[in-house]
Amino acid sequence: MASVTVKAPAKLNLTLDVLGKREDGYHEMKMVMTSVSLADTVTLTVGPGEGITLSTNLGFLPVDGRNLAVAAALRLQEATGACWGNLSIHIEKRIPVCAGTAGGSSDAAAVLRGLNELLELGLSAEELAGIGKTVGSDVPYCVRGGTALATGRGEEVSPLPSLPTCHVVLAKPGFPVSTPELFAQLDGKRLRCHPDTCGMLSALEDGDLQGVARRLFNVFEEVLPPRRRDQVEELKQALLDAGALGACMTGTGPTVFGLFQEEEGAVTAWEALKGHCPDVFLCQSL
Ligand code: C5P
Repeated sequence: MASVTVKAPAKLNLTLDVLGKREDGYHEMKMVMTSVSLADTVTLTVGPGEGITLSTNLGFLPVDGRNLAVAAALRLQEATGACWGNLSIHIEKRIPVCAGTAGGSSDAAAVLRGLNELLELGLSAEELAGIGKTVGSDVPYCVRGGTALATGRGEEVSPLPSLPTCHVVLAKPGFPVSTPELFAQLDGKRLRCHPDTCGMLSALEDGDLQGVARRLFNVFEEVLPPRRRDQVEELKQALLDAGALGACMTGTGPTVFGLFQEEEGAVTAWEALKGHCPDVFLCQSL
């Protein structure tokens, strides 16, 4: 039996812009993403036998090919012909599920990175990302992580300077979101505002945390159903009132996050929000 344990960090969108609908049904995106220390842990073990088994600490998650971690292992096997006997994947989930934080995509990327290491496949990050994009649009970004610009349907990734060191509070409100539904809402709407992606890139170049925080922007906030938008606004305001330099929803939501210069302010915000929200997390930039 051989085993490896890999971290799968959560992703936040510092900016998220949708430029239009493509002929393949996907949308053309322009996003600045960053990884934070909140992470799942993925343990891969290969041994005698065959097949792929998945277990997690959350009983309600699918453990078959619908789980992106299993899909990633299958795609890697198809792409490389790698032979590993039985593969057991265990995921200790900490990243909230269906939250806009790319938890499933990050687990899938961790499976690709982990199997590459465990089986000594020698695949480059680019090759892993190429396999990853057949699993989901965010997987190529999650293969490398860090701070990056993602374009195309999200799978074209260019590294950027790291987000300046900061503390991050994430709060996931209790309502669900449907990603395809939010994209459909965008299709029928002329957006009033778009993020200042160029300004965000300059702020990252300058290591200017205040400049980054000022430019946090996600076009999906505008197309949330009104009651949901109010809830997101309330959470953003609560984070700002607690001293966040900026606050924004990530991905298609519903998770909202705030960036803090000082740990003390982040801890105060985390404690204040714990009573209002089912899931609140305190972590750092990576
Ligand atoms: O690529 P992924 O499977 O993560 O996408 C999930 C869904 O999100 C797609 O089926 C599509 O409805 C929507 N999507 C999109 N444009 C993108 C990425 C995702 O419309 N660039």
